[in-house]
Amino acid sequence: MIAESISGALKEDLDEPKLSINENVLGTKKLYIESYGCQMNFADSEVVASILRTNGYSTTSNMEEADLVLINTCSIRDNAEQKVRNRLNTINNNKKTNPNLKIGVLGCMAERLKTQFLEEEKMVDLVVGPDAYRDLPNLLEEVNEGHKAINVFLSREETYADISPVRIDSNGVSAFISIMRGCDNMCSFCVVPYTRGRERSRDPHSILKEAKELFEKGYKEVTLLGQNVDSYKWTNGEEHFNFANLLSAVAEINPELRVRFSTSHPKDITDEVLYTIKKYDNVCNYIHLPAQSGSSRILDLMNRTYDREWYLERISKIREILGEDCGVSHDLIAGFCTETEEDHQATLSLMDEVMFDYGYMFFYSERPGTPAAKKLVDDVPEDVKKRRLNEIIDKQRQHSGIRNNLSVGKVHRVLIEGESKKSNMDFAGRNDQNKVIVFPRKNYEKGQYVNVMVNSCSTGTLIGEIVD
Ligand code: SAH
Ligand code: SF4
Ligand code: F3S
Repeated sequence: MIAESISGALKEDLDEPKLSINENVLGTKKLYIESYGCQMNFADSEVVASILRTNGYSTTSNMEEADLVLINTCSIRDNAEQKVRNRLNTINNNKKTNPNLKIGVLGCMAERLKTQFLEEEKMVDLVVGPDAYRDLPNLLEEVNEGHKAINVFLSREETYADISPVRIDSNGVSAFISIMRGCDNMCSFCVVPYTRGRERSRDPHSILKEAKELFEKGYKEVTLLGQNVDSYKWTNGEEHFNFANLLSAVAEINPELRVRFSTSHPKDITDEVLYTIKKYDNVCNYIHLPAQSGSSRILDLMNRTYDREWYLERISKIREILGEDCGVSHDLIAGFCTETEEDHQATLSLMDEVMFDYGYMFFYSERPGTPAAKKLVDDVPEDVKKRRLNEIIDKQRQHSGIRNNLSVGKVHRVLIEGESKKSNMDFAGRNDQNKVIVFPRKNYEKGQYVNVMVNSCSTGTLIGEIVD
């Protein structure tokens, strides 16, 4: 196999954090990979690139020159799936100019639809679920012999712990690290337990090794990823790690390495985690704590296993331990089954009570096979869902403005992530609370920490200048 012949001599290149010209030498075949959905999917694509790199594929950002196009898909809402189907039609046009092109679908949609995908989308050659990526080289052999190939087995153990991800589209400053896979919660609206399987935690030693290696390569920020990081749990003989223990261990790698994490779950986030965030300056003062609804009746139907009061108590604890300026963001769903105007008002009033810095807001999209699809009626009309969602978005906009204004006139420690989207004369980075700050670049470099005085803000961005 090509893998054996390149692995020794080009080891250094394989370890390079960023894609470089050398990779063109590495593989004889070109892989183009596109990712949709959550950060875990983006992290998985980096694992896939690593597996295929040792099998003779180098990555390219130009689809035209690819021999293999992989789409890592998301099933969370119907529109996420529609986006992928539209994209596949476009990609299929490339098959006309390049008849040898192979197209594969990875991730959650592959897992949800299985063989149905091959029947529905004739141009697809390969369907691989999130726990089957190690099998890609074998599956590709079948595909290259002219067959269709599929592996959608879910695993109780797979964490890809030993695979060093190839960083795709990396800024060389911040990277994601998967610390667990799957989800054992049964939120009634959610497809994830079916597409990602049972929850399992990754060996902490492999997580720490990956974080250390990233820091040695110049990375300054890692984000620990899981669907529910607070239920991270690892035991081996006498050795026990919960999420707080893992967070401390990563924070202790180096004070210059910033540590973020996502997603926290209101039912599981402990005071121990909050005190750990407080203890380490390099663990960011920011928590993404999806609420989903402000109505206890709806939370019960959603099977979130907490109520409004519990959620608000967790927020009070965050404020008490980490202070008023700890960044807090949410996910909220508008128009879940049976949601009344009163339930919707409860969501708006929860937002008023918490004053979130930021939020991800959706209207309910029924997912086939989920408990809600089986047991509840998706009875809120679409126009009502959309109107409620707009009210939630409007409120969040106001709150983001108010919260951002609190940062004006203060100096923030910012990690420079790269040029701002709007001007190459400006840099953009984030502060401890995860707020994006844009400022003139002067003579500083990407990856440096700088102190920035914030002079003004919009609902999305803070604007300032370096005062070092
Ligand atoms: N593990 C995370 C969320 C993962 S999915 C958690 O427990 O919070 C990301 C977000 O998508 C969810 O928080 C939810 O707000 C939203 N979502 C999930 N399923 C949905 C559905 N069927 N319709 C609309 N939004 C949904
Ligand atoms: Fe889905 Fe709930 Fe698991 Fe989040 S915690 S991934 S919303 S089932
Ligand atoms: Fe989507 Fe799967 Fe993530 S459904 S949100 S890509 S876990």
